Amino acid sequence: MAVTIKSQREIELMRESCRLLAIVHKEMEESIRPGMSTLEIDTLGDTLIRKLGCIPNFKNYNGYPASVCVSVNDEVVHGIPSKHRILQEGDIVSLDAGLIYKGYHSDAARTHAVGNISEEARLLIERTRESFFAGIKMAKAGNHLYDISNAIDAYIKPFGYGIVRDLVGHGIGTSLHEDPQVPNFAQRRRGLKLQAGMTLAIEPMINMGRADVEWLDDDWTVVTEDGSWSAHYENTILITEGEPEILTMY
Ligand code: CO
Repeated sequence: MAVTIKSQREIELMRESCRLLAIVHKEMEESIRPGMSTLEIDTLGDTLIRKLGCIPNFKNYNGYPASVCVSVNDEVVHGIPSKHRILQEGDIVSLDAGLIYKGYHSDAARTHAVGNISEEARLLIERTRESFFAGIKMAKAGNHLYDISNAIDAYIKPFGYGIVRDLVGHGIGTSLHEDPQVPNFAQRRRGLKLQAGMTLAIEPMINMGRADVEWLDDDWTVVTEDGSWSAHYENTILITEGEPEILTMY
């Protein structure tokens, strides 16, 4: 599938889709407390998405059974919410959610602290977020796609963390996943040229230990192979001639 360039009308719809998703994320973040189940977060997110008149785009996507991916500690992404999985003080929890507004998709993720967390966990979350901002400094028309990937890699490398390679960011629009793929690790080439009107989901997934991941028997949950903790930070962004617009910011 080709990379799509959004028209002014489509950009307005993407902006609104992403603005609504930011509201959902903020509510979910504020709900987090030790003792709650990961299913409660999914229920909250699902309910709010529908109350806003939107559709959760993850639900039933390739059979995914929930509206929010809730991934705890060594779970990297795509954790399945469960009433039996109770958040504990000191955990870190990654929330990944998206929605469809008038046919247009949004996608964003954050990793949050559950109560007080260790300094090394706090730094992992902070540096994962910073790697996104290092990446999107390069995200403007005339630069190339892999300038983003290379900048994320260069930011993370000095910390010795593992950058997940098996999952990548993506174009987004009338589908959740459009071309191009957006890797978070260094590429040999510069890739396609960025153009105003492209919308991308940029989403570094960073492990405290090694980069290797594996899939649990539920066929969804991605965990680190070495058991180290992992953080995720994702926004849907719009490429412009100048600075990128971070459409899902809150
Ligand atoms: Co995504």
